[in-house]
Amino acid sequence: MPVTPPLNSKLPQVGTTIFSTMSQLAAEHQAINLSQGFPDYDGPASLLERVDYHIRQGANQYAPMTGVPQLRKALQAKLLRCYDRKVDADTEITVTSGATEALFAAIACSVRPGDEVIIFDPAYDSYEPAINLNGGTAIRLPLLPPDFRINWDQVATALTPKTRMLILNSPHNPSGQILYPEDIQALQQLVANTQLLILADEVYEHMVFDQQRHLSLNLYPDLAARSFIVSSFGKTYHITGWKVGYCVAPATLTAELRKVHQYLTFSTATPLQRALADHLHAHPEEDQRLNLFYQQKRDFFNHLLAPGRFAFTPSAGTYFQLMDYSAISQEEDTQFIQSLITQAQVAAIPLSVFYQHPPEQLTWVRFCFAKHEKTLEAAASKLLQL
Ligand SMILES: Cc1ncc(COP(=O)(O)O)c(C=O)c1O
Repeated sequence: MPVTPPLNSKLPQVGTTIFSTMSQLAAEHQAINLSQGFPDYDGPASLLERVDYHIRQGANQYAPMTGVPQLRKALQAKLLRCYDRKVDADTEITVTSGATEALFAAIACSVRPGDEVIIFDPAYDSYEPAINLNGGTAIRLPLLPPDFRINWDQVATALTPKTRMLILNSPHNPSGQILYPEDIQALQQLVANTQLLILADEVYEHMVFDQQRHLSLNLYPDLAARSFIVSSFGKTYHITGWKVGYCVAPATLTAELRKVHQYLTFSTATPLQRALADHLHAHPEEDQRLNLFYQQKRDFFNHLLAPGRFAFTPSAGTYFQLMDYSAISQEEDTQFIQSLITQAQVAAIPLSVFYQHPPEQLTWVRFCFAKHEKTLEAAASKLLQL
């Protein structure tokens, strides 16, 4: 009888992610899936056609480890256009297999056993496992409802000689909150004269609403000098399944990030990169239209739900909307979601799963509104019956 040796898990706390579980449950109950963050529409037809074109042209072998030069050049132009930041396309931009890979590589090249990394709860789920796999400890500071803003005094108190990195996510998944000028000032003061690194997860950079500006760390030379700034084409061009992202960082940081990236994936699908390069070149302003596109979806969804019993403050960014269900039920959020899926046939994500220690009476769920209007209408008509 063949025997499989036991494997002592390096991530004993980690199971299947809530996103897979919810999507599966949604499918079983034919529920409308507003849980996982992906659009139910496609990326621009001209972008999709360029993939086909490049595959037929034979762009089917390994891309350069750092990313195809045309795409890095296009990103260089984008950074100048959007944030007035001048970077060297050869030494400061790396194309990765999704933002997830960039986040992992940035953590892996920076964090050593014993290091502490500050993250904010509710947190995107990939940060802590990456920190732990590299021997670090995540110090999780709570962002509390209803506004989910960072308490900078608390951050200052949490700093120790072991603190290596701070992970920021703006616009923030799942709360939909963003960073404001006073947050940036507090951050600048906090990190000045320290050796702290910053990992800025800005995958929703083009989804900021109500005339607010996305305060990318690319805008602040003092912060950019110590930051890995990560974004994702998946979010911006409705192509989450392509898993193409990138990281912008000073040359010394990029050199270390690439040492990890080259053994993690080495490079990212060539025809996808070539198509994205063409698209950015041909339609450089398209990303600027995304703010309004998603603001309209947010408003459409919220307007439909306004007569119902969910309470909410419109998201400031991302394609997520948190809703408070305390007027409908006092169940725990995981329980409430089960009922939502099985009875109302709408899937969402319970907020508590993004916390290590959820605050008491957390009666919030996260809906993804990156959906066709008819999907949002169908979901809303079910949710209004609650
Ligand atoms: C905050 C945040 N960071 C990173 C990612 C991952 O992006 P990608 O799909 O490009 O790996 C996501 C995707 O949901 C996200 O919400």
